[in-house]
Amino acid sequence: MDLTLKVWRQDGPADKGRIETYHVSDVSPDMSFLEMIDMLNDQIIRAGGDPIAFDHDCREGICGMCSMFINGEAHGPNRGVTTCQLHMRSFEDGDTITIEPWRASAFPVVKDLAVDRSAFDRVIQAGGYISVNTSGETLDANAIPIPKAQADDAFNAATCIGCGACVATCKNASAMLFVSAKVSQFALLPQGQPERELRVQRMVDQMDKEGFGNCTNTGACSVECPKGIDLVNIARMNRDFLKSSITEE
Ligand code: FES
Repeated sequence: MDLTLKVWRQDGPADKGRIETYHVSDVSPDMSFLEMIDMLNDQIIRAGGDPIAFDHDCREGICGMCSMFINGEAHGPNRGVTTCQLHMRSFEDGDTITIEPWRASAFPVVKDLAVDRSAFDRVIQAGGYISVNTSGETLDANAIPIPKAQADDAFNAATCIGCGACVATCKNASAMLFVSAKVSQFALLPQGQPERELRVQRMVDQMDKEGFGNCTNTGACSVECPKGIDLVNIARMNRDFLKSSITEE
């Protein structure tokens, strides 16, 4: 496949940034999208240029690092996959592909396609600990029976990889889907109950401090989420937040 790539290049946070055009030839349809960028970077380095900075780690859809906008969609045209799981067979020979970083003021661009998503880390940190009795013998994992449906819902919430596609896709740059998944994974389990109210208050407070927008129920976040995190988590977080606000007062 021969492709034209329009890539966002930005030297650093203070740089205005610009789109640069590259051509790559002999791209295999079996390459992943990141391997295609590796190939382009090799080409740029051989020509004496500065390679494109982009985040990646696991390359198997687990870490959430490979965050980029491809042709105007978070993680590209396919649903339920991250950029590292996207293969070039999803494109046609001769295509022009536009590649941009996440765009949200809470995710400032570090360089090119790499953005600073430490705001998510601070939201997680604000959530704090859960109380677990660790004295005496180690508890058997099944000592606290949890209904299957509840365990499944908690597990589904916990599959959020924190990639930030929800924020990048939302017209308000809202982080509600991410935060609600992290709130829900504990709120649904017995182990998460002692700090449940405090946790939701602290995480929502930190989310607001980081400058994320509010949710206006568009639902684009859930559609573009590579893990299919459900909007029901946002409803649960809103209920928990309201309830804990009243209790607090
Ligand atoms: S590199 Fe880890 S999810 Fe893509």
